[in-house]
Parts: sequence; structure tokens; C-alpha cells
Amino acid sequence: MKILILNGPNLNLLGVREKSVYGSESFESYFEELKEAFPAMELSYFQSNTEGVLIDKLHEVGFSYKGIVFNGGAYTHTSVALSDAIKAIEAPVIEVHISNVYARDAFRHKSMLAPFCKGVITGFGLESYRLALQYFERMKPKQIGFGSKK
Ligand code: DQA
Repeated sequence: MKILILNGPNLNLLGVREKSVYGSESFESYFEELKEAFPAMELSYFQSNTEGVLIDKLHEVGFSYKGIVFNGGAYTHTSVALSDAIKAIEAPVIEVHISNVYARDAFRHKSMLAPFCKGVITGFGLESYRLALQYFERMKPKQIGFGSKK
């Protein structure tokens, strides 16, 4: 089961950036833990600070991978183009956030992506990613809804 973890802008700075909000572990280090925890999954990881590059990646894997775990960072709250990309592809996308976006600034309460995602996991620190992978691990392909966005 091929699953992509996709991180958007500023998430390359995890472990360095605003540690009180995002913690002190780098995503590269956490990704090693995830690979050990889900040996049956073919996990890959990609990060970009550029909206168009994130869209290209969604197009690239979105018709062949079984699922995508996507933290769009601040683009979550602004990007019509990313929401269109999620709508256009077949693979189910789970939106994740490290922080609880609903406990933060009002502009973070709006997600442009969520309406086209399978679901949203927010506020569990890096464990938000693990919870999303657990969903893909436990659900049968039909339940995941591969091939249909709803
Ligand atoms: C974030 C929340 C966003 O509001 C913010 O812009 C980020 C990170 C999170 O994982 O908590 O960059 O997506």
C-alpha cells in the first residue's frame, strides 16, 4: 500500500521553528519512527515550500497511491489551487495539523482543503500523522473510498 506524507510550507523547519507549538523533533527523525511502526506500508515523504510543487506532487501520485497524508501548512487556509488539486485526484487525502488550529488565530479555523479530504486530524502533535496512517492501515480499500472523492 503506497502512502505519501506531504508537508507544505515551513514544515521543513520542524524541530527548529516555534518549538512550543510544533515540538523539538525534526520530521525526518519522526518519519523513521513511522516507517518502523508501519512496516507493511510503502511510505514516502515529500516537503515543499512552493504551492505549484505541492500541486505537481498531488497530480503525480494521486492516481496510483492508496492515500495521501497532507499537512498544507498555511496554504491550508488560503489555497484554492490546492483544494482544486485534491478534488481532481482519486486518492483519498487526510488533512493533518500538528497544532490544534481551532485553538489558534481565527484565520486558521478555515480550511480550503477539508471539504475535499476524507477527514481532518488536528492538534495531536506529530502523532497526528500516525493517527492518519492508522486509518489507512485499518480500513479496507472500499472503505477508504479509493476512486471516489466522497
Ligand atoms: C499547521 C497549522 C497551520 O495553521 C500553520 O500555518 C502551519 C502548521 C500545523 O501543522 O499545525 O504551518 O499546519
